[in-house]
Amino acid sequence: MSVVGTESRLALSKRPRRLRSTEAIRALVRETHLTPDCLIYPMFVCEGSDVRRPIGSMPGIFQLSVDEAVQEAAAAKQLGIAGVLLFGLPEHKDAIGSKSSDPRAPVQTAVRAIKRGVPGLLVLTDVCLCEYTSHGHCGILDGEHVVNDPTVARLVETALSHAEAGADFVAPSDMMDGRVGAIRQALDDKGFDGTGIVSYSAKYCSGFYGPFRDAAGSMPQFGDRRTHQMDPGNVEEALRVVQIDIESGADVVMVKPAVPYLDVLRRVKDRFGYPTAAYHVSGEYSMLKAAAERGWLDEDRVVMETLVGIRRAGADMIITYYARHAARLLA
Ligand code: PBG
Repeated sequence: MSVVGTESRLALSKRPRRLRSTEAIRALVRETHLTPDCLIYPMFVCEGSDVRRPIGSMPGIFQLSVDEAVQEAAAAKQLGIAGVLLFGLPEHKDAIGSKSSDPRAPVQTAVRAIKRGVPGLLVLTDVCLCEYTSHGHCGILDGEHVVNDPTVARLVETALSHAEAGADFVAPSDMMDGRVGAIRQALDDKGFDGTGIVSYSAKYCSGFYGPFRDAAGSMPQFGDRRTHQMDPGNVEEALRVVQIDIESGADVVMVKPAVPYLDVLRRVKDRFGYPTAAYHVSGEYSMLKAAAERGWLDEDRVVMETLVGIRRAGADMIITYYARHAARLLA
């Protein structure tokens, strides 16, 4: 029995494989592109100088003093990455997270240094209190409850201090009600109408933030974040909160985490057609790293596949600890 013979010729008019036959053709018909200029690299900035402290659960990611952060930011810029997102690690924490709005704290200092030292690189700042409070909660407590409006007042002070330092975008990640509108108004009142807001709009209460809480020392000392972060089962709610954030003045809305919530990303993008970010979070990074370290996955391949998948689902931009790795692969 002949396998390849005239008798096996199919009368096929549709041959999708034609468009997969060479890389030149595949490139021509590729629908989704990953480029370094849609990537944002998160960095953890601590006090001191010459500090480059590895984070155990996030191989390749470090707690950096400002001088080191400037160097990493310059390396990111060199690779064509759009921007960096800064998190602060203060040495002293208190109940109201006083350090979050201190103009001499690590984030504010790093913003000034990066804007000066790495022109053209966008600087985004995370606005939340959990890295700054002694109890590790995202806001001010009354007993064990995070109280909304007093927390928003502290977030506004924090966002203003970032804008004063020169941040291009402030990114509130706290999930309090009303914070986007309050921050927008305060920025406008102080003349920072050019400072944008990237809102963590649909931020889910996720186990995938575990490694981040190691990195930022922001594990809540009791309880969890379920009274403000979103329930993983909800998508209609995500659409409602995104709408509120857009109406309140957000320039960019975000879905976070990314991969377990790709359906949310697609629905947000389809519904609003608004600039949309996805945060590929610490746990998503760590699980790929861990599998790669064991030789179970080809890291380069799965990184690209993951980031393309996030783009395909509707993300205009991706915040990822893999930004530099991916940009190097794309170069
Ligand atoms: C601060 C904040 C968190 C992350 C971003 N901003 C932690 C949390 O909400 O517990 C998570 C980022 C990551 O896991 O990479 N609230």
